[in-house]
Amino acid sequence: MTVFIDRIIPQIGLDLLKKAGISYEQHTENRELAPEELIERCKQHDALLSAGWGPLDQSFLNACKHLKVISLHSVGYDRVDVKTATKLKIPVGNTPDVLSEATADTAFLLMLTVSRKALYLHKKIIKGEWGFSQPIDDLGFSLNGKTLGVFGLGNIGFELAKKAKAAFNMPIIYHNRSTNEIAEKELGAKRVSFDELVKESDVLAAFSSLTAETKNKFNADIFSKMKSSAIFINASRGGVHNEDDLIAALNAKTIWGAGLDVTNPEPMKPDNPLLEMPNVAVFPHIGSATVEARDGMAKLAAENVIAALSGLKLPNIVNP
Ligand code: DGY
Repeated sequence: MTVFIDRIIPQIGLDLLKKAGISYEQHTENRELAPEELIERCKQHDALLSAGWGPLDQSFLNACKHLKVISLHSVGYDRVDVKTATKLKIPVGNTPDVLSEATADTAFLLMLTVSRKALYLHKKIIKGEWGFSQPIDDLGFSLNGKTLGVFGLGNIGFELAKKAKAAFNMPIIYHNRSTNEIAEKELGAKRVSFDELVKESDVLAAFSSLTAETKNKFNADIFSKMKSSAIFINASRGGVHNEDDLIAALNAKTIWGAGLDVTNPEPMKPDNPLLEMPNVAVFPHIGSATVEARDGMAKLAAENVIAALSGLKLPNIVNP
């Protein structure tokens, strides 16, 4: 049994595969494979372990019906047509939990970076613009006691809420389909309507997965209902916010600032106006980019492959 790996993943994942007697071919060039290339490579293998970006859509799946598993090196699985994979009996695995803390740290970093204009001020020094300043210049605001609103309080949102509570005693409100009992008990978090979340949050952080329902969820209409002093944070998927509407809302001071670890499209173009705004921080989708999280992801992704190629149920499966 062999697996095709479309990126260079941490050694721990490769070692696990070897130990299980599974050989692999790894795409080690620093470029995304074109869809036809990916199909050609997958045709020569029994499984795909994918940390790539491209869609694994109907045409890919129909061309690679033989795959015994698609094991994603990510928690998000919006790039896979899971419905078609399920019809074709291809199990799809992902890597939840191991990256929750790292991704929450990234959101926390965005909150602080934006509230204190840190990236903008750093850029000013680089440009030689650290000169005379008045006590009223370049002011940010304190997060202490401000309300954190979480859209989609799952594992990552919970980790952020814990940090926000511990560091800044931020009251937590959230909008979910179901009640998060642990967050309510441990953090005093309060489940609210989406409308209330939007209106009451000082920092509004989106952690939902990208679905037809959440696509462009944060748009001009929603930004117009937020506090003009609020910060919007997105560390989930770029498609959850409408980027043009966000730029317009920031330009019009409809909201105060924004912190993005995800953009639409990715990579973001260097001439994007968001990159020049004082109250904005943009990171290049680094939510899970710690040694610990990436090792955990490689391990889980390898375990999903091993289980599937041994005829067992995947430890982390996304098919219904
Ligand atoms: C994930 O795991 O989904 C991260 O966003 C990396 O893509």
